[in-house]
Amino acid sequence: MGDLILVKKERNYERYALKRNPFPYAGIPEENPVFCADRERELENVGDIISLCLSGHSMHVVLVGGYGNGKTHLLRFIKSQVNSQFKDSVTGGKAIAGYVISPGRTLIDTYRTFMQDLGRDFFVKLCWEFLGRVTLSILKKSALEVKGIKLDELKKDLTDSPGQISSYVEDGKVLLPEILKAARYELLRFTKSVDIVNGFVQLVYDDTALLAWKWLSGEQLLYEQRRNLGVVSPVSTDENALNMFQDVYSIMKELGYGLICLLIDEFEAIEVLQHQQKQRFLNSMRHLIDLNPSGLCLVISCTPEVWKNVVMEYHAFSERIFKEIILRPLSQDTVRRLIKEYLARSRTKGKAEKNGSSHPFTGDAIDEILKVSGGNIRRALALCNTAIDYGVKNESKQISSQIIKQLYESIM
Ligand SMILES: Nc1ncnc2c1ncn2[C@@H]1O[C@H](COP(=O)(O)OP(=O)(O)OP(=O)(O)O)[C@@H](O)[C@H]1O
Ligand SMILES: [Mg+2]
Repeated sequence: MGDLILVKKERNYERYALKRNPFPYAGIPEENPVFCADRERELENVGDIISLCLSGHSMHVVLVGGYGNGKTHLLRFIKSQVNSQFKDSVTGGKAIAGYVISPGRTLIDTYRTFMQDLGRDFFVKLCWEFLGRVTLSILKKSALEVKGIKLDELKKDLTDSPGQISSYVEDGKVLLPEILKAARYELLRFTKSVDIVNGFVQLVYDDTALLAWKWLSGEQLLYEQRRNLGVVSPVSTDENALNMFQDVYSIMKELGYGLICLLIDEFEAIEVLQHQQKQRFLNSMRHLIDLNPSGLCLVISCTPEVWKNVVMEYHAFSERIFKEIILRPLSQDTVRRLIKEYLARSRTKGKAEKNGSSHPFTGDAIDEILKVSGGNIRRALALCNTAIDYGVKNESKQISSQIIKQLYESIM
């Protein structure tokens, strides 16, 4: 009979001038990666495309790479960069990026995952911001009934930040029904569906917010639930989802968003769809592209084999993808830089001589890592992770090619 002995392990990496094991344990990227080693050229290409989109164009790009070669990492890095630089930009030109983990089976799935990635809080905030702007325009044109506040003070606050209307409403100083009426009227000016107008404004009512969010983000609701929201159509076809996307984007545009980056990972998943389903899905994607000649940047990631098929069989879609960026496997030069970059981020202070070096890995060990990993980033990082823990446990002075060979053989 064996025992499962569980001990919280605190290893000391000081021997290698490291605060921790720098390499990922699980081989999956973080939600918001803070760095992207050795992808300068790829990032420059993507950066050029997104910059052009920011100035009013639409362009689309595919990142082509084998399994474990950094597609998800790059997409997540792009998302966090776009959102940190442009989501709350105050100098106009706001942009937002949403990450879709997999395209799913229909455009409804893609739409739902995109909306859920942006999140309910984002849209509730957007709704309050819209209501704040509407309140301001009412104040400019006519009187608005307010309690216990000076109109000038309200005007100033809303000019600084329209979203502040939420606290005025919560304190009972401004009455919601009065602004909602004007907001509905205003929304109808640039959206196509009354459903969207009804669903969107319900986001600010505590009683209906959750249901409204479910509908807006593409979840299926029962007829009675939709009736409570004042919404007629279910989100049951790609066409519905497409129309909702367009209307949601129109609202965002009205609030200053000039660009949506739609980042779709694992595009190769479409390969499991039946021929007709695949055709329908790619047609819907094509419509999405055609309906947005400006302000949309689609970045998809796909394995080389599936992308080759898409290019051969679905011209109408693939020809709309402006650029292919190939994520090459690691080379002798890039594996060194990747390892050094990871190590540098976990170095202990006061070990200047180790900074920028690949210690504890010897040059031969890095060559061996490249050889046995076949240049695959995930495999290379996994080996580095195991090697560091092995070295610490066995008090190895450095990590040699012998250790890498031995570890690789024991894993295989
Ligand atoms: N440029 C990079 N800089 C730092 N770490 C990276 C980089 N590219 C990939 N990684 C890391 O390598 C591992 C594998 O990368 P990732 O999961 O992005 O590959 P993938 O191509 O999406 O794989 P799969 O095809 O299996 O989904 C992750 O731990 C990720 O954080
Ligand atoms: Mg991936």
